[in-house]
Amino acid sequence: MKSTSIKRIAITTGGGDAPGLNAVIRASVVSALNKGWEVFGIREGYGGVLNPNEYPEGGLIPLTRSKVRGITHLGGTILGTSNKLNPLKCPVKQADGTVKEVDRSDDVVHELKRHGIEALIAVGGDGSLSIARELGLKGLKVVGVPKTIDNDLDKTVITFGFDTAVSFATACVDRLHSTAEAHQRVMVVEVMGRYAGWIALNTGVSTTVEAILIPEIPYDIQKITAKIEERYTQGARFAIVVVAEGAKPKGGTHSVVSKEVGRAERLGGRGETVAAEIQNATGRETRCVVLGHLLRGGTPTTFDRLISLRFGAAAVRALEEGRSGVMVALDPPTVRYVPLEEATSRMKSVPLDCDTVLTARDLGISFGD
Ligand code: F6P
Repeated sequence: MKSTSIKRIAITTGGGDAPGLNAVIRASVVSALNKGWEVFGIREGYGGVLNPNEYPEGGLIPLTRSKVRGITHLGGTILGTSNKLNPLKCPVKQADGTVKEVDRSDDVVHELKRHGIEALIAVGGDGSLSIARELGLKGLKVVGVPKTIDNDLDKTVITFGFDTAVSFATACVDRLHSTAEAHQRVMVVEVMGRYAGWIALNTGVSTTVEAILIPEIPYDIQKITAKIEERYTQGARFAIVVVAEGAKPKGGTHSVVSKEVGRAERLGGRGETVAAEIQNATGRETRCVVLGHLLRGGTPTTFDRLISLRFGAAAVRALEEGRSGVMVALDPPTVRYVPLEEATSRMKSVPLDCDTVLTARDLGISFGD
């Protein structure tokens, strides 16, 4: 592998935040500083380079040792993030008042090069890594780091943030048992995950709920209500159903809250719909809890901290080795590098024959199919 003469790099964190972002930043910065490189952090995704005037202290922050001290365990990102400023589809207001998507990726590359920045570590999910791939094609050296609580990025066994989200969701469902039992209710718990059911599946199996609804397996509500009734017949006095925000009924579509120019569509509402349908069909009092953004907060689990630190350091090693256009991927017991194109060309859905799905079925958990 050829080695490089890089002297100055930048880091960006884009898309929805996920626990572990600060650990990636710390590991990348410390590793790079130890190689004698300078590191700059771009504010709020690409905001710091596209709209520098919005940042009185500068759109690019010099990342020194003291700036990244004591941040490994913190949620969020010290750089800020954004999921509404995609350089490939920037929302720009037209003279007639309408908003159009404009490609400003050339501006990003130009602005970074103007600051003497030769390489970029892009920490993000499918959207942010697709942007990174384009910037790479335009002459910037780029290495991606796979982030998302949804775990829907292909070519890596796991993304950081996912373990923390599932751990928290599991703790929440555990807590719902007592109130559900006390009131003899059905509790429906909606979790994030976008178009993939990883969070719902792992949470639902870990807590051995009655039913798990995921986008990969369209459900029939009658199958769910039959399962709940069967449980009550067997003497149980409560039931819990975990619903992925992207779950959809057979023949139906995702439940979309809104879609704005330049942004991904927002999902939501599926849990409430399912809860209402269960209550109507069974006559049993049903409540819905939406965990939503709570899943993105808090301190990363040890697992997430460790892979975040490993990913951050590996990204710097990749640049040192002269790699570009790649994503760091977890391939236990090690990390490897995969082309960004491969990682972003399709979403990683839950395989219907994976052993976690089989385990759920073996335990009698219904998917509503
Ligand atoms: O991709 C991460 C994620 O948290 C999804 O699970 C969810 O659909 C989405 O982001 C929510 O994004 P926002 O921050 O725009 O509400």
